[in-house]
Amino acid sequence: MSKQYYVTTPIYYVNSVPHVGHALTMLACDVSKNYREMRGEKGYFLTGTDENGLKVKEAAEAAGEDPMVFVDRISQTFQVCADELNVDYDVFFRTTSEQHRKAVQRLFEVIRDKGYIYLDKYEGWYDVSAETFVRESELVDGKSPDGNEVRWVEEENWFFQLSAFGDRLLEKIAAEPEWLLPQGRQNEVVSFIKQGLRDICITRANPGWGIPVPGDDSKVIYVWFDALINYLAATGWPDGDWESLWPADVHWMAKEIFTRFHATLWPAMLMAADLPLPKTVIAHGWFVFGDSKMSKSKGNVIAPADLLTFFTDKAGCRADIAKDVARFTLVRALPYDGDTNYTWEEIGRIYNADLANDLGNALNRSLSMAHKFSAGVMPGDGVEASAVEAIEAARHRAERAMELLKLDEFAAAGIDLIRWLNKYIDDRAPWALAKNEDSSLGAVVASMLAVVANAAVLLHPVIPTTAAEILRQLGVGDVTEWERIGGDLVPAGTQLGSPEPIFPRLDKTVMEEMKPGAAVDQPNDKKDEKKPKAKGLPEPAAEIEFPDLMNIDFRVGRVIEAEPVEKSEKLMKLQVLVGTETRQILAGIKKKYSAEDLIGRQVIVVANLKPAKLMGMESQGMLLAADDADGEAILLQPDAEAPEGSRVH
Ligand code: MSP
Repeated sequence: MSKQYYVTTPIYYVNSVPHVGHALTMLACDVSKNYREMRGEKGYFLTGTDENGLKVKEAAEAAGEDPMVFVDRISQTFQVCADELNVDYDVFFRTTSEQHRKAVQRLFEVIRDKGYIYLDKYEGWYDVSAETFVRESELVDGKSPDGNEVRWVEEENWFFQLSAFGDRLLEKIAAEPEWLLPQGRQNEVVSFIKQGLRDICITRANPGWGIPVPGDDSKVIYVWFDALINYLAATGWPDGDWESLWPADVHWMAKEIFTRFHATLWPAMLMAADLPLPKTVIAHGWFVFGDSKMSKSKGNVIAPADLLTFFTDKAGCRADIAKDVARFTLVRALPYDGDTNYTWEEIGRIYNADLANDLGNALNRSLSMAHKFSAGVMPGDGVEASAVEAIEAARHRAERAMELLKLDEFAAAGIDLIRWLNKYIDDRAPWALAKNEDSSLGAVVASMLAVVANAAVLLHPVIPTTAAEILRQLGVGDVTEWERIGGDLVPAGTQLGSPEPIFPRLDKTVMEEMKPGAAVDQPNDKKDEKKPKAKGLPEPAAEIEFPDLMNIDFRVGRVIEAEPVEKSEKLMKLQVLVGTETRQILAGIKKKYSAEDLIGRQVIVVANLKPAKLMGMESQGMLLAADDADGEAILLQPDAEAPEGSRVH
């Protein structure tokens, strides 16, 4: 079989429960695999669990469970975490599997036969929590540099001659500048190696858990030496068609396990065994809260399931779309160089800005206007040059971002294309072109639809369900081939679907509640306390019940035509787009606004008001307005662009 694009997450320890930090790396793999598959390659994605460490055994004992029952249970929660976010891994690999045990023992033998593993006495400190050996000089107040308890260990053990590989590693890094990414962390690896690599102890006295050293059951293999081999073991090595996967194309992880393990120890082990090295090793930063890493003990953990509930319950997203929304907020916040403060406030901000205001709104506007101005059919006038260029530029930007595995930048390329479109719509103002019977209207509508379709395909690796939904609303089937970007995705004459909101906007009160330290439960005003009446203002209206308010259907609309009513001092006759419908509304705003002021403006419409006749003309609704200081009506409008037809509450 030809070589597949093989991408891996670290295998997760089973002494903790999955949170969005773990999910982030799963998504990084999923997105990079999806992209490669769009480009015609066959992807293979490994994730899994690291189950042989001493701390796993101790965690099982603390939970009063048999270690195997314990690891089965926790390992399952990582699979659930992947499923919750639609993460499509090909293998969930576990280090307690027979396949893994065989490969680890085999590689140990191969490296020992090549003379890089030798027996010696180990005397020193061991940090069980981080599963690492600690030098005396590294101790801080008797603890490891991470603040963990250390134990004194004195054992005869096997050592790996890591010190033999420093120069070869440095040569490899110099020869292939994109082997270790990003650049900043590569520099850290170089200085770490230059300080001098020391041989490492790779076995421990057998505690009754772990992989025994071949031919010596009194010892087990050190958990990091064991765990790193998972990437190779999962290919079936040394048997079968393992070369259809190996070498791995990308090992993804966060920064804490990059320098010492994935960028030095692992490649040195492979060099020792004369096996090919992974093509790219990349570490992203951490999700943090303020200055602390997300961790269960600090109580600042967000689980993927919390994100889903938030987007379905607070924002009102469909359950399958909520998965995409969670994926998007994670990828968009991916800490490429530094760390990201991934807080509820940030999650809400990304959702509202990128998805509700930009992507959702662009789809809604484009479809609504196509229904209004081209009878719900893709015009045959071709796409304007500026739109073709914007699509091409976004595609190039996304491709370059993927070469460097900058997934946050990849997502930004898609969203910025949508931002370009929203501005294009405002600039080209199709409603004004329609009013003036301008011949470019068809091309403008075609451009709007083409840009939305292309942005959806561009974002497919991140939000596959939403991309398919957008294309469905545009009246075409799903597109999963990257090379079709820039092509004719919505052919002329396509019957468009109706716009259906995908990302309801998160309301301001929810956003306020998410701010750190927000006072959520403000006491209500006492009912019987009469508010003093301001001078010159009308009497307060009689109290109503909440259902009375809910009976009024307030909607966002857009004025697409406006003309003054000649015989009236006050009235303007407006055509207002509300969803896919156009309403004729007569409004007493002539003194304050000209037709030009009004065309294109968003307004708030009372949409279920019984039609009335004014000066012989039907008015199908009313606009909300306030009185200015002179008593003239001034129109209310949403604080930011909202989809036409969306509810106001
Ligand atoms: N078992 C080892 C890895 C062995 S790989 C041969 C391990 N496991 S872990 O459960 O601690 O997982 C660490 C990884 O989880 C990180 O490298 C990263 O991929 C992910 N993350 C865990 N917490 C995270 C954040 N707060 N932020 C970003 N990534 C996080 O280390």
